[in-house]
Amino acid sequence: MNNPSNFSPADAAHTAVLEVRSLARHYPVARGLFKPAATVHALDGVSFSVRAGQTLAVVGESGCGKSTLARLLTMIERPSAGQLLIDGEDVAQADDATLRRLRQQIQIVFQNPYGSLNPRQTVGAALMEPLEVNHIGANHAEREAQARAMLREVGLREEHFQRYPHMFSGGQRQRIAIARALMLKPRVLVLDEPVSALDVSIRAQVLNLLAELQKRMNVAYVFISHDLGVVRHVADEVMVMYLGRCVERGPRDAVFGQPQHPYTQALLSATPTVEPSLRRARIILKGELPSPINRPSGCAFRTRCPQVFERCAAEAPALHGLAGPAVACWAVTG
Ligand SMILES: Nc1ncnc2c1ncn2[C@@H]1O[C@H](COP(=O)(O)OP(=O)(O)OP(=O)(O)O)[C@@H](O)[C@H]1O
Ligand SMILES: [Mg+2]
Repeated sequence: MNNPSNFSPADAAHTAVLEVRSLARHYPVARGLFKPAATVHALDGVSFSVRAGQTLAVVGESGCGKSTLARLLTMIERPSAGQLLIDGEDVAQADDATLRRLRQQIQIVFQNPYGSLNPRQTVGAALMEPLEVNHIGANHAEREAQARAMLREVGLREEHFQRYPHMFSGGQRQRIAIARALMLKPRVLVLDEPVSALDVSIRAQVLNLLAELQKRMNVAYVFISHDLGVVRHVADEVMVMYLGRCVERGPRDAVFGQPQHPYTQALLSATPTVEPSLRRARIILKGELPSPINRPSGCAFRTRCPQVFERCAAEAPALHGLAGPAVACWAVTG
């Protein structure tokens, strides 16, 4: 499937609200008194683009760099290398005023809504704060009206406006976190495991709310999750990550229907499904995810890959393009 003629980077760039080119984040870590410092390759050159109103799901096991990617996309941290473009504007080239505007365009929702809300702030104050900070709305009354409208948008009630976060259930708190993230009408919302901490019965409600809001506001989602059942429900495109790199990317039905990369195949084989056509024999991977400090040479997955052969150790397979189906595997692309 790794056929660059399948997609046109120009097309992708034209409509992309978010574009990421070879984005990387390396952390220097001390290893003790007499040892030289090492480098953690938390994110090691990831490229993709997302169009308005679309959802890119990012999957991969713990430690593969998903939250690092989320922090770079939302400008909480700066990348070590690579480019981040929001609505075609390069964040690295932006002056202060442009940067302030771009920051408003991309917001984040975390896994734990209780941790991301200030316990001493009423819901109303939490929703109005982003407007105040960014000088949006003519006066307090206007900001309050916008906050009350958003509260209704996320399915909460008028009387919730004056309440504090501890007075809500987990699902309601996540609705508040989503409302706050949407106050500035961003073009992109990064959702880092947004339903993982919620009761299964509440999950579907929050996922449905996210789908409705996306339709209404035409906002793009980067939806990070380790739950492939959830991903299958929400994604337009799927990006599978392994040790800081993307190993496979493509439209949801292609990735779930005909996974190409042996890692994607293994992940999917471990996901229970009721659909007979998607049921596959369980592939059990040997070993652990290698340390991002000592990334194996060549393909990082080769130490656990059931299809490994000589070339995998010699050379790392690359993933081409920003959009469309792509896979980084010598066994697939030859
Ligand atoms: N500030 C930091 N300093 C050093 N290493 C870091 C730092 N932040 C993250 N890492 C390392 O980078 C790698 C990727 O971490 P990250 O949190 O992005 O993973 P993740 O995919 O979000 O995992 P999870 O599914 O558990 O949330 C991990 O090995 C982590 O230990
Ligand atoms: Mg994480």
